[in-house]
Amino acid sequence: MKEREVLLSGRQLTKVFGYGPNKTTAISDVSFDFHEGEIVSIVGESGSGKTTLAKMLMGLLKQTSGTIEYKGKPRRLNRYADRRAYWKDIQAIFQDPFASFNLFHRVEKLLTDCIKLQGLQLSPEMQVRKMKEACSFVNLKYEELYNKYPFELSGGQMQRLMIARIFMLRPKVLIADEPTSMVDACSRSTILDMLLKLRDENKMTIIFITHDVGLAYYVSDTLLIMEKGRVVESGDAERIILNPQHSYTIQLINDVPKIHSAWNLG
Ligand SMILES: Nc1ncnc2c1ncn2[C@@H]1O[C@H](COP(=O)(O)OP(=O)(O)OP(=O)(O)O)[C@@H](O)[C@H]1O
Ligand SMILES: [Mg+2]
Repeated sequence: MKEREVLLSGRQLTKVFGYGPNKTTAISDVSFDFHEGEIVSIVGESGSGKTTLAKMLMGLLKQTSGTIEYKGKPRRLNRYADRRAYWKDIQAIFQDPFASFNLFHRVEKLLTDCIKLQGLQLSPEMQVRKMKEACSFVNLKYEELYNKYPFELSGGQMQRLMIARIFMLRPKVLIADEPTSMVDACSRSTILDMLLKLRDENKMTIIFITHDVGLAYYVSDTLLIMEKGRVVESGDAERIILNPQHSYTIQLINDVPKIHSAWNLG
């Protein structure tokens, strides 16, 4: 990844929730560089701090200490215009798709909002064309869905709709927090392939969050292995899977029998 430009980086990030005896250190002294067009997976067990880190990267949670840099400059989100510009570039898909959408908006509005967010002035016909194109990218039929509310869709349809929005928004960075949690194995590989295609077509940086190191290996260039809020190992995905250095990484790999059988890793 060396030749690619560093897009997003964190230095000694720490996040502490609560005070006194109720204090939880969710992220502890975490540093990283994410490059343009890189797919990096953040891997760790439940409670290791993955979503907390994702929310800090999105600017939805403020770090207790440490700095985040975007395009080589300290990230500033104080002014509305700063946040708007940042969120044009950085988008997220969260674990629970139902929490990510306004439940009172129909699919059509959820998608036309993406066009507005981009500041595009398009005729109604062009808007429908764009929405149809985005839906067909994720194997959804716009005609069948545009009039529905989020609660009328299945979990898998919702997750694909989120990817359709990303297709329209074309952010520079996509943070995908367990984007396949609500789908079966077949749809899972379709969703992963869609993400890979988005990266290839748009040079998008994808930060993929999962507890499944096998899945992470399948999609990523690099891995960031997290245990209890700390990064225990990071770097080239293949190097880590073939030659893990940390006992926690070895344990994660041993917990995934399919890696061993599918890739004959012994
Ligand atoms: N708003 C909050 N207030 C207090 N503690 C929190 C808050 N959010 C997260 N935590 C704690 O921080 C730690 C990390 O949580 P986080 O949600 O980041 O884990 P995760 O790796 O995403 O887990 P999972 O795989 O289950 O989604 C946990 O101990 C959690 O209880
Ligand atoms: Mg999480």
